[in-house]
Amino acid sequence: MRAATDLAAPAAFREDVLAGLSAPIRAIPARWLYDRRGSELFEEITRLPEYYLTRTERSLLQRHCGEVAAIAGEGNAVVEFGSGSSAKTPILLEAIRPSAYVPIDICGEFLRESARSLTRSFPSLPIHPVQADFMTSMPLPEAIAAEPKLGFFPGSTIGNMVPRTAVNLLRAMKEALGIGSYLLIGIDRLKDVGMLLRAYDDPAGVTAAFNLNLLARINSELDGSIPLDGFRHKAVWNDPMSRIEMHLEVLRDLSFTVAGLGFAIPAGETIHTENSHKYGPRDARLLLRAAGWSPVKEWTDPKGLFALILAEAEAIRFAP
Ligand code: AVJ
Repeated sequence: MRAATDLAAPAAFREDVLAGLSAPIRAIPARWLYDRRGSELFEEITRLPEYYLTRTERSLLQRHCGEVAAIAGEGNAVVEFGSGSSAKTPILLEAIRPSAYVPIDICGEFLRESARSLTRSFPSLPIHPVQADFMTSMPLPEAIAAEPKLGFFPGSTIGNMVPRTAVNLLRAMKEALGIGSYLLIGIDRLKDVGMLLRAYDDPAGVTAAFNLNLLARINSELDGSIPLDGFRHKAVWNDPMSRIEMHLEVLRDLSFTVAGLGFAIPAGETIHTENSHKYGPRDARLLLRAAGWSPVKEWTDPKGLFALILAEAEAIRFAP
């Protein structure tokens, strides 16, 4: 996340927005939802009664990290992908007696904040922050080269990617962590569609504000003239793709400019802003296996809302 005072938008944001608004099916990558305000709104989403994901995953971690330690062993270097504020990390670190912690995040501000707060709780734990976009590179520090490794990828962030991209990412994680390492991943489960829609279109309107904030960000960082009242938040269940989609739906014929370029969008059309894929138990295991990870153990809550899966990076075998 960039500082609020840093008004020069990164070129990648500009390119993604201009390309996304010009495409025949309009779409802007979900990562741009997380400026400072967007990150605050997401934190607020995690506290909503309808948004079961965060609290379900946290209670699974509290309950089962001891078993993770028993399987993965002590002395692992924990590598967290997209660590953000590292809110769930202490639960894992307390249970597994790690040799080091490596948070990877795009946002330097987040990395400094989480290193500071974790140093307070774990004063003797070596912390090696890595500022990187794990979707394109995950350089691990030399200091943990010889340590056994446990990857940590909570929050069902994997669900934001289409399966092909998810498999590529999981494969890159295996490559980076090495054969024999472990991955603890949180994946949201397929469930009642009504419950999913309520989680992504809450009555308090926090998710709507989170989605619409993207337009405010475009206006302020890319000199846009988008009328925010010309759009509404829309969450839809795409059954064939097994995912919740967030869109911004245009309420009346609109024309506006962004970065000096003109756009016109007719009423009823949408800008697609996020995918959140949901996986059945077998789907989730297949996704991991497709990327060379063998599921070792999985835990779920009594209602089967969310799954925590521990997988091991398997050696390549020439089995039939
Ligand atoms: C943080 C990406 C897992 O997809 O559930 C929450 C983001 N979007 N409400 C999710 C989100 C709308 C969230 N992830």
